[in-house]
Amino acid sequence: MNFTKRTKTCGELNITGKGEYITLNGWVTKIRDLGGLLFIDLRDRYGLTQLKINPENKSIYETAMTLGNEYVISASGTVIERESKNMNIPTGEIEIDVDKLEILNKSDVPPFNIEEEVKASEELRLQYRYMDLRRKTMLKNIILRNEVYHIVHNYFKDLEFVEVETPVLMKSTPEGARDFLVPSRIHKGKFYALPQSPQTYKQILMIAGLDRYVQICKCFRDEDLRADRQPEFTQIDVEMSFIKQDDVFDISEGLFKRIWKEIKNIDIITPFRKLTYDDAILLYGTDKPDLRIEKISEIHLITEIVKDSEFKVFQDAVKKNGIIAAIKLDRIIDNKNKKIEITRKITDNLTEYVKQLGFGGIGYMKIGVNGEVSSPIAKYLSQENITELLGEFNAEEGDTIFILSGEYMKVQTALGNLRNKIAADFNLINESRYEFLWITDFPLFKYNEETGGFEGEHHVFTIPRNEHLKYLDSSNRNEIESIRAICYDLVLNGNEIGSGSIRIHIPEIQNKVFKIIGLTDEEAKSKFGFLLNAFKYGAPPHGGVAFGFDRIVAVLCGVKSIREVIAFPKTVSASSLMDDSPDIVEEKQLKELGIKLEKK
Ligand code: AMO
Repeated sequence: MNFTKRTKTCGELNITGKGEYITLNGWVTKIRDLGGLLFIDLRDRYGLTQLKINPENKSIYETAMTLGNEYVISASGTVIERESKNMNIPTGEIEIDVDKLEILNKSDVPPFNIEEEVKASEELRLQYRYMDLRRKTMLKNIILRNEVYHIVHNYFKDLEFVEVETPVLMKSTPEGARDFLVPSRIHKGKFYALPQSPQTYKQILMIAGLDRYVQICKCFRDEDLRADRQPEFTQIDVEMSFIKQDDVFDISEGLFKRIWKEIKNIDIITPFRKLTYDDAILLYGTDKPDLRIEKISEIHLITEIVKDSEFKVFQDAVKKNGIIAAIKLDRIIDNKNKKIEITRKITDNLTEYVKQLGFGGIGYMKIGVNGEVSSPIAKYLSQENITELLGEFNAEEGDTIFILSGEYMKVQTALGNLRNKIAADFNLINESRYEFLWITDFPLFKYNEETGGFEGEHHVFTIPRNEHLKYLDSSNRNEIESIRAICYDLVLNGNEIGSGSIRIHIPEIQNKVFKIIGLTDEEAKSKFGFLLNAFKYGAPPHGGVAFGFDRIVAVLCGVKSIREVIAFPKTVSASSLMDDSPDIVEEKQLKELGIKLEKK
């Protein structure tokens, strides 16, 4: 097609170009008819430039009158100074006095307006993703994502990491989630799996002597989706040989330091804080605490203080070897400097919330003047108990203590959730902070009550701490559950953005772990024989980490859902609304694969 090619982009002209004759190509964003004079906002990836069409230029004016939003045009003319300037955009001081106008393509009426405060539903935005991506915010997110790619590639290149592509068609191996399977036409009845992560490959690359591996790669997991989970997502996958946990931390912290400096011009403080998994549960009731939360205390175990109270719920908890724990909400003031009362409505709401988590209710205690308390459970507690409790929290007038009792993990988790809920309800999250935190020493196994067996808490290639190796030979549930691994997560603002471990590199240890998760020798051989074999030929000590690329970019962009930073994401029900996948396939294709579908 013959068209006048642009000499400038829509974002680069300013007053210094006054008098220049230029051509722009782009999309019509807005047309304003000011009593004869037409003003058109022309948009491309780089920005927006105003075109001025004078009715005196009849043929151009007539063409311009046929334009609609999202038409693609070529406009040539002279850069002139605007009468009414818009200092909010870089091109706001000039406009183009158009003397040549070509329509390069028409557009149907757009399904929604290309504007920042988009009114369309997410479904519509996903269905017409190419329109949605024309919005400045989406474009900015995608471009920021691209900048992070470059930083990551360069960072690891400087440190002599080797980027290696690992297969997308691989063997189905249990790794935590469900695999996506790909039927083989050549080997009928057999399947490839899409990698849940390149875990086994990166370990094998260490055995191959690559020493330092990195890859920005796609991972595929058939699991329930959420705002921070996609069936295909991107990892920054890292593995290193002859290293210890601290080396992984140093390399990772250096990466985040560089990303935050280059993208945000923020110097983040390293080394990051560290908390063992057990302490994280004890203090925050979660393995991904959001350290930006202000005015809510950590969790305190108060069993010793209130265990002899006359409150039956507490007595029951203690009888069943449970615990009593609490958090304190400081006196809070709203943005008009007015104290926020913890009203009956608020406590009723929190009671409803904990009921959904399986509790009968929540004990609360509002602290008034001179340490006086107002609380439905105060009558069961001695003055001594109350004083001790207030001392435990350094509680002052206006503070409120929330108490739950029951089984340890259940109480801690609920108080962890409650901290997040109260923080969200009362805006107690300091959004200006970036809080990185390593969680270390995860349990190696978790017991699955449904199957009555153990599974890997992280994955089954993680090495136990030296002092716990002995429990790999145990058949005692408590001992097995007590095994802690050299395994870590990186948490940022309450999101798990990375996870890794030092790996097992000794076949005997790996075999013991397989045995605990219930794999017979035969099964272990059939599923992981290739890895166990490789271990026999000189596997170096190694370890690594993988970061959730989409989650990191989402934090950098300040968005809640990773769908906002992925060009073509799936919906929560795992479909792509734009191209309508997954979809049925032709009978012929199934036949070639030797697949017969069950009748619905
Ligand atoms: P893990 O399974 O913890 O570890 O994944 C690493 C990081 O990837 C991100 N992530 C996801 N992001 C979006 N959608 C998902 N469905 C999703 N699942 C995980 C998270 C997570 O922390 N091979 C190991 C790493 C290792 O041991 O080196 C692994 O994949 O941010």
